[in-house]
Amino acid sequence: MNFKTGLLSLLVVCGACGQVSQQEDLVKDSFDFAGQQLKFAFTQVDSVKAALAAADSKKKLVSPRTIEDDGSFKMVASRDWTSGFFPGELWYMYEYTKDDYWKTKAQEFTADIEDQKTNGGTHDMGFKMYCSFGNGYRLTQDAAYKDILLESAATLITRYKPAIGCIRSWDHSRDKWLCPVIIDNMMNLELLYWAFKETGDSVYYDVATNHARTTIKNHFRDDYSSYHVIDYDTINGNVLHKHTHQGYNHESAWSRGQAWGLYGYTMCYRETKLPEFLAQAENIANYIFTNPTMPEDMVAYWDFNAPGIPNEPRDASAAAVMACAMYELSMYNAEKAAQYKKWADTIVESLSKNYRASSEGDYGFVLLHSTGARNFERDVPLVYADYYFLEALLKKEKLEKEGTAIL
Ligand code: GLY
Repeated sequence: MNFKTGLLSLLVVCGACGQVSQQEDLVKDSFDFAGQQLKFAFTQVDSVKAALAAADSKKKLVSPRTIEDDGSFKMVASRDWTSGFFPGELWYMYEYTKDDYWKTKAQEFTADIEDQKTNGGTHDMGFKMYCSFGNGYRLTQDAAYKDILLESAATLITRYKPAIGCIRSWDHSRDKWLCPVIIDNMMNLELLYWAFKETGDSVYYDVATNHARTTIKNHFRDDYSSYHVIDYDTINGNVLHKHTHQGYNHESAWSRGQAWGLYGYTMCYRETKLPEFLAQAENIANYIFTNPTMPEDMVAYWDFNAPGIPNEPRDASAAAVMACAMYELSMYNAEKAAQYKKWADTIVESLSKNYRASSEGDYGFVLLHSTGARNFERDVPLVYADYYFLEALLKKEKLEKEGTAIL
């Protein structure tokens, strides 16, 4: 679909001007609320940092992650997989408001995680560096950020296993898995496609595309739901186990895993234009949005097979990631654009109206009701729910005003 067709179908979707302005209000109102929450979060972060300094602790905590079961504020070190989302939120605030206050704050929190560029012990490089430095580079063209991102991408591909055709995910749990690859890893490929465009070095394109193809082959069931962890033999590339780590059980469909796959293949299609990736994204979307357990407000339960549905926690983080993906996917299928956008709009409206944290409370998180896993972080705020919620709002606005959801 070309730009004009996209814009035209959007105007049909949006209908009367009144509806457009109502949608703009929702985006503005949500960003106003997020700005207020993030300013409150700075006070909470400062208290934690001051307490560490007073205790003469060597521990360096850089950004918020969640609220613990005991009600305390959890901040993380730069090595944590979630360390890039808070700086990323600040970049999105800058993008929406164009206010240098947010730029300065974003720069400050982004700088705190630079050390991760050489951390070869993690596949979460994209989550950490592309959400922080990546957004920062996109918005400022700061050459130092570009160098940091290129070093990060070079570090990430050291984890690629040619015999498998995938980037290794975790190094932990060696008693359980030889070479685990998790569906989440699809999200880290965006950094590699960016590095390919910047350098022209096809190794980045090939690693990302091979990873995505191998994942289509081994991670998905016939109904296009996905396993969480595939364990591979590093010598011959054979699949050893199909497991879950965070979902309900090995055969269940963990909601955030489905969301990572949906976003991942939508992004891979944008970067490669390979029809196999578009087909995969659309099949995943169909699994998610026609699932009999999907509630009316489109904020999925934490696992599509959780046994106690409807008395199970939701996962606002999965919903926010799904909304981001569906805004973009709506650009790639003219016939389904209206339906895809409607699903995304329903999520964004639900999150904005019914999942908000308390004003200047909840340590400054924006959304409540996310779920990290079967056995931890259940029904809590999570920093990445807030990050992808702001991204979804930006995509929605851009799609409605300019006919593209690509930031
Ligand atoms: N990448 C970890 C998660 O989605 O929880």
